[in-house]
Amino acid sequence: MGKNPSDIWDIVVEQWNEEVWEIPQVKAAHPEKTEHPAQYPIELVERCVLALTNEDDWILDPYCGVGSSLIAGLKHDRKVIGCDKEARYIEIAKSRMKAFYNGNLPMRPIERELYKPQGKVSKVPDEWKVRGFEHIYGDVSGIDIR
Ligand SMILES: C[S@@+](CC[C@H](N)C(=O)[O-])C[C@H]1O[C@@H](n2cnc3c(N)ncnc32)[C@H](O)[C@@H]1O
Repeated sequence: MGKNPSDIWDIVVEQWNEEVWEIPQVKAAHPEKTEHPAQYPIELVERCVLALTNEDDWILDPYCGVGSSLIAGLKHDRKVIGCDKEARYIEIAKSRMKAFYNGNLPMRPIERELYKPQGKVSKVPDEWKVRGFEHIYGDVSGIDIR
């Protein structure tokens, strides 16, 4: 439409005003998941990179794991240094950075809304539903607990 794309993400501005960042953890179904058990979402570090640093600044992560902070920095033209005591995490960090430069690193986009499941995702077992706890479990009438 003849307009340059914006470099301001509405969702980030909205969440900044609400003072709450809604970012899913890196679990099994997350596109960024590697074997690291405590991996950060790139998007989390990305917001700090944008808020606290400028283009060409250096970012040092002395506990970089599989390199999420490094990728967040590279995404925004920062220079990055990382170290980790586990050589295998460094290898994964290096291959993620290569994939980033090749344009094929899976990343959750910063502007994607949090997935809100429709309906109930879990069910309270009937044996937990006892009178006196309706405020937690809802209507318990009709449940026969012996
Ligand atoms: C919470 S994880 C960081 C995960 C990282 N942000 C990511 O997204 O992959 C902490 C990391 O610190 C590393 N670590 C712990 N003690 C360390 C030390 N003394 N020197 C360097 N790395 C260390 C661990 O191996 C682990 O990968």
